Amino acid sequence: MNYDEDFPMLKKGLVYFDNAATTFKPKKVINSLIDYNINFTANSHRGDYNISFKVDDEIDKTRECVRRFINAKLKEEIIFTMNATDSLNMIVDNFFEPMLKKDDEILLSKSEHASNILPWIMLSLKKGLKIKYIPLNEENKITIDNIKNLITTKTKVISLAHITNVIGDKRDIKEITTLAHNNNIYVVVDGAQSVPHIKTDVKDLDCDFLAFSAHKMCGPTGVGVLYGKYELLKKMIPKKVGGGMNESYDEHGIELTTIPYRFEAGTPNINGIIAFKHAIEYIEKVGIENIERSEKYLKNYLIKELKKIPYVEVLNPTSDSGIVLIKVKDLFAGDVGLYLNSKGICVRSGKHCVKMLKDESGFDDTVRISLYFYNTYEEIDYLIYCLKDKYKLYDF
Ligand SMILES: Cc1ncc(COP(=O)(O)O)c(C=O)c1O
Repeated sequence: MNYDEDFPMLKKGLVYFDNAATTFKPKKVINSLIDYNINFTANSHRGDYNISFKVDDEIDKTRECVRRFINAKLKEEIIFTMNATDSLNMIVDNFFEPMLKKDDEILLSKSEHASNILPWIMLSLKKGLKIKYIPLNEENKITIDNIKNLITTKTKVISLAHITNVIGDKRDIKEITTLAHNNNIYVVVDGAQSVPHIKTDVKDLDCDFLAFSAHKMCGPTGVGVLYGKYELLKKMIPKKVGGGMNESYDEHGIELTTIPYRFEAGTPNINGIIAFKHAIEYIEKVGIENIERSEKYLKNYLIKELKKIPYVEVLNPTSDSGIVLIKVKDLFAGDVGLYLNSKGICVRSGKHCVKMLKDESGFDDTVRISLYFYNTYEEIDYLIYCLKDKYKLYDF
């Protein structure tokens, strides 16, 4: 399939391999952003006039679309946030902070993104909680046995990415939730790198919370999703207060409005949320299974070709996703990134917001190539061609 006509950014003469950071947007999404601003600009939950009704209606359609996409039971379980980071912070601060007590234990791994580690570190410092990091195996992946070994009666939460953004490993969330729930432990899933790439069914996974960002799945920036089981959302306490989240208030307190609106204080990213529906519909049209399959083929081809270059090491050869991590012998990752940039290739270099991973894997300074379904074999061939040009690469 050729997607050039759908994505204006695919016609800029670039090879874009930084899809784990953000993705390109199809015309349908761009047009939707324009449509709101040209044809029905109004605030949500506020007006008594038609264009404001339309705004509420469109936001509601996106909520239903997200519900369907992740197979949540209720659309009320979908809360719009700014991004996955915002969602994870809200889960930690609004649900777990009031609930957790001193010495309670949280299980994380050192291959989590900063957004799934820092909110927990801040909370542990505040409340005297203990964070335990699940040891990684020789492939830098977690194992169910390593999780089992850490569980005690004090373990209250396991918070993990479904797919990690550096190692690119996929966790068996269903097995983890079964183990966790048998031990009265909550499971938080960071879906930033999984929801855009693989089928995500929250009923099947049985996770308690899920966080992800629209911009990593063909949608606009500034829109995230916090999914939570309705029973748990009833116990969650809004920390952000203001317009739209209350029924009434006086000097003695606030009467909260219904879920999910009580967690969406203030004017939301209206055109972003509306456009997000078009991103999901686009992904559904391509087919999430097709996306997963085509990325797998591209990734296998990329790894096969990279392995032929003697001075390039593939650090995650068993990656379960479209994320491939490399090191070029004797070169700083940033220099490799800048060399590839000079050839019109966009990759990411450095620590990729996973700064504790080096403790276990030794990976400190790497180049990440992250694929999406619109990437092509020709683009990979061009990358390999540029990397094979040893003289120019080392001379850059
Ligand atoms: C695994 C993972 N979690 C969370 C995030 C944070 O996403 P955002 O910056 O959209 O909040 C990222 C971003 O790269 C990520 O890769």
